Amino acid sequence: MNEKSFLEFLKTRRSIRAFKEKGIEESKLNLILEACNLAPSSGGLQTFEIYQIKNKEMREKLVPAAKDQTIVVQAPLLLVFCTNPSRSVERFGERSQFFSVQDATIATAYAQLTVHALGLSAVWIGAFDEKKVSDILKLPQGQRPVSILPIGYENETPKEKTTRGTRELLHVI
Ligand SMILES: Cc1cc2nc3c(=O)[nH]c(=O)nc-3n(C[C@H](O)[C@H](O)[C@H](O)COP(=O)(O)O)c2cc1C
Repeated sequence: MNEKSFLEFLKTRRSIRAFKEKGIEESKLNLILEACNLAPSSGGLQTFEIYQIKNKEMREKLVPAAKDQTIVVQAPLLLVFCTNPSRSVERFGERSQFFSVQDATIATAYAQLTVHALGLSAVWIGAFDEKKVSDILKLPQGQRPVSILPIGYENETPKEKTTRGTRELLHVI
């Protein structure tokens, strides 16, 4: 892939909030997880965990926890990315909390791009009640949910995207 086609690839990745019923092949799920495993992480310690949810009852429970976003039940597969700072606290002390949020975030981004490369779609869900999600997933003490990634086969065409543009993003000092 040259730099032009890589940018084209990034341009065509969009958030999708309507999915077909079709489930996700295990082979594709495995590739998504492999990409997450390759993501950069603080000290290479991979201070994040991924919870896979296919169970419909659990997805239904997550709707009110995710501000009534029904996409979490409509998608056949959810990946929930959580922090696990205990993996690096010895090395990084208090900073491990911050690093683990970044590790989980980067892993989510890798997953999202791989989803796109595989012809699937996703939307990053960050608007949720952290405590409710933690309780539903029965997360171990110290782990925090960072993102929910509903994954499926696209069933909508997203509207044109507007961005700030590179000139506004960059501050030359
Ligand atoms: C940290 C974060 C939190 C987000 N939370 C939500 C969310 O709760 N619900 C939702 O529909 N989209 C959510 N999004 C998706 C954004 O709305 C979307 O990425 C943005 O509008 C740009 O559109 P695009 O992904 O199609 O380029 C979130 C994205 C990020 C990065």
